[in-house]
Amino acid sequence: MQLTVVDHPLARARLSRMRDERTENASFRAALQDLTQMLVYEATRDLAVAEETIATPVTRTTGYRIAAAPLIVPVLRAGLGMADVAHRMLPESQMGFVGLARNETTFQPEAYMASLPETLVGRHVFVLDPMLATGGSLVHCCGLLTERGATEITVLCVLAAPEGLRRLEASGLPLRVFTTSVDEGLNDSAYIVPGLGDAGDRQFGAV
Ligand code: PRP
Ligand code: URA
Repeated sequence: MQLTVVDHPLARARLSRMRDERTENASFRAALQDLTQMLVYEATRDLAVAEETIATPVTRTTGYRIAAAPLIVPVLRAGLGMADVAHRMLPESQMGFVGLARNETTFQPEAYMASLPETLVGRHVFVLDPMLATGGSLVHCCGLLTERGATEITVLCVLAAPEGLRRLEASGLPLRVFTTSVDEGLNDSAYIVPGLGDAGDRQFGAV
């Protein structure tokens, strides 16, 4: 597993806004969108491009387009807040969806939906979920992807706990992980510390 921490003054400022308990839902969502843009930018640095000749108003020159856009998979619910901006940056992409809710007693993910292409052979997949805590949800989601043949998965998350990173590493899944912070660890409720609370509730309200 390859880990990249995107550390930048703009990322730190947005992340601090998300951590602050006084931040309202709308402002939290806006900061998440900004951070997603930074994560996508870093994670697509090596994306293959195809060359084509284009005409500017002045002359002809070499232009570039994305050769094979990744499949984008937000993990519902919290990953929804990252989906639109990732899709705007990769407009050629298709999008799949995985719905998971962590059981807050057992901390195990409970799956309630998956809408994915039947085969992912030869396709790079970008998984969006702001929180990597125990790692159970991402191991489950990425397992669904490898079952369909994915061999190249990039996870974009805002916060990662060391426990979750170790679990992903131990899973042997073919992963690259991009995050804006590796936090201290998990508390007794398996929440990330210092963290930002419940990323779904802070975007959409408690249900
Ligand atoms: C959160 C988060 C991750 C998961 C992380 O979702 O968005 O999917 O918890 O925890 P884990 O690493 O311990 O599995 P949650 O299950 O709370 O659902 P929600 O997005 O609907 O709020
Ligand atoms: N899910 C969240 O939304 N936050 C945490 O800290 C852990 C899991």
